Amino acid sequence: MKRSQINAAIENAHRALREHGIRLPEYGYWSPDDWRRNAGPGHHRIYENMLGWACTDFGQGDFDRCGITMFDVRNGTPEPNLGTPYGEKIFVLKPGQRLPFHFHYNKTEDIISYAGGTLMIELYNANPDETMDETTPGVVYCDGVRKPFEPGQIFEIPHGQSLTIVPRLYHRFWAKDDGAVLVGGEISTISVPRTDNKFTAGGRRFVPIEEDVEPTYLLNVDYDKLHEVA
Ligand SMILES: [Fe+2]
Repeated sequence: MKRSQINAAIENAHRALREHGIRLPEYGYWSPDDWRRNAGPGHHRIYENMLGWACTDFGQGDFDRCGITMFDVRNGTPEPNLGTPYGEKIFVLKPGQRLPFHFHYNKTEDIISYAGGTLMIELYNANPDETMDETTPGVVYCDGVRKPFEPGQIFEIPHGQSLTIVPRLYHRFWAKDDGAVLVGGEISTISVPRTDNKFTAGGRRFVPIEEDVEPTYLLNVDYDKLHEVA
């Protein structure tokens, strides 16, 4: 992804969060210079648990159709045991923007619709060989309510509601192409995106960044650079 796309995506996310009265921790608003000025030893937990901004096109090269902008508000690491034993993200999806199909080996996550656009979630069970099971129905919980589903069933999630995605349940979600930016969230067990995500069709969570302009905000993958500067 180009840095200019990432800068624009975070601006867009700030706009949507502001519109719906959702505030982030103070470092969510920091420029790289603010980080250099303000961050000290007391901020190490942020680096260790990769809190803060994340933005990806999942290696598909078409961010408007396939991508997400997220802010990790809280998370932990199991080994060594640091941070919280749970994770939370706030995410922003443009109308029509989606994630590729994936499941998690260990993480259970509630994917929540908060405000703006309409959250859509499509589900398949996984076969033991990790391919998608296109024939077996499954069961999912919507805010504690049991919902049987057919393979490939699509759930429309009203604001305030969520689906609980358990390990090895294939899911993809998107904002309906209805003109509104979606603000959603994820509350989960500890998130370990480098090893816990299984994507179909070559999707990947971490992508190289082409530095065509200076960053206006730092992603959580940029903190290493901050240490080099500091
Ligand atoms: Fe997921």
